[in-house]
Amino acid sequence: MKNMLLDFLNNSPTPFHAVEEIEKELKNSSFIYLNEKDKWILEKGGKYYIKRGDSSIVAWINTTHSVGESGFKLAGAHTDSPSLKIKWGSESLQNGCIKATTEVYGGPIISTWLDRALKIAGKVVLESENGLETKNVKLKTKVVIPNLAIHLNRDVNENFSYNTQNHLSVILSTKPFEGSILKKWISDEYGINSESIIDAELFLYDAEGGAFIGDDENTVLSSRLDNLESCHAILKAITSSEASKKVKVALFFDNEEIGSETRVGANSQYLPMILQRITFGNGEDIEAFYRATSKSVMISADMAHAVHPNFADKHDPKFQPLLGGGPVIKYSASFRYATTSETASYFISICKKASVPCQKIVNRSDIRSGSTIGPMSSALSGVATVDIGNPMWGMHSIMETANIKDHEYLIEALKIHFTDNNY
Ligand code: CO
Repeated sequence: MKNMLLDFLNNSPTPFHAVEEIEKELKNSSFIYLNEKDKWILEKGGKYYIKRGDSSIVAWINTTHSVGESGFKLAGAHTDSPSLKIKWGSESLQNGCIKATTEVYGGPIISTWLDRALKIAGKVVLESENGLETKNVKLKTKVVIPNLAIHLNRDVNENFSYNTQNHLSVILSTKPFEGSILKKWISDEYGINSESIIDAELFLYDAEGGAFIGDDENTVLSSRLDNLESCHAILKAITSSEASKKVKVALFFDNEEIGSETRVGANSQYLPMILQRITFGNGEDIEAFYRATSKSVMISADMAHAVHPNFADKHDPKFQPLLGGGPVIKYSASFRYATTSETASYFISICKKASVPCQKIVNRSDIRSGSTIGPMSSALSGVATVDIGNPMWGMHSIMETANIKDHEYLIEALKIHFTDNNY
């Protein structure tokens, strides 16, 4: 499992690549692609998936019975991670260097992105004989965003904050270049005529990749653990599941880090639409859909904050999840997490059945928690939801820290979730 997780993380520098990786594995497990544009007629017990916008993907195993009688078992996670996005068309020559400005995507710990080898990946839109086509790209050349020397920035360890327009441009080359060097790299590496590149969405990412560390090598240090670790766990669980009464649905949404309000995000008609279309594809009606959602349950999986030995007072003294201690149930009185006492009890029961430990977190009352796709998915679909996640340190750093044992635990718990016909 260690290598599988690391390969998945390293092969998925952007949501576009994560979706490509997920799709590969779904195809290997005989899931069939459906187009949103077509009319769906679903076979009982069939395995299907759809994609939207190249950065989100939803897979399901159809009911062997009826949707209205049985309901759904859902598990969802997000494919995106905080990063720096290159402004396409921003390349300029300054002081002999070619640089491009970046936009901050989500909430990265910005200082962790400087002074390290970065690479560029994303998707490009090409004009071809068949119209517009998209293509995922990963470029070979390593680049850097250098810090300013401390001698010229004495405040850097005190009160300094990076100006996102001025200080976070990526240095693409230390030599002048006529035209767009990014277009040249893309066309050289992929054998594409640079004239046919119409637009692109390119992100920076750590060039080195993840690693296992520690005396037992169970600690994983990698980019994008939030939330590709959860995506990988859900993928492993759904691809090892068999059809039964409940429809099993795996949701991989984009844009959680910027609020989810996009057509590929959880705060949209996407989730209710899919559940309705699964119901109609089985020849059932809207009442069957409402009956189904009332007997359904969703696990929203997104990473959780393990207690940090250097900052233990940032956690409530009674809720201090440990790395390796199992998945963490997240509670919030203001429902920044969707967890209720019933859905928490459901998750505790499946962990018991899977012989997996689990932990709980309620934030310190004076620290506002983050949020997830859980509350909006639950509100929009009417499905009872529990928010959980594996414990980690350094969330939103370019290098985050977690433990492989928790990953294995979560996969086992999710397998029971998909198998179990109770709730
Ligand atoms: Co997250």
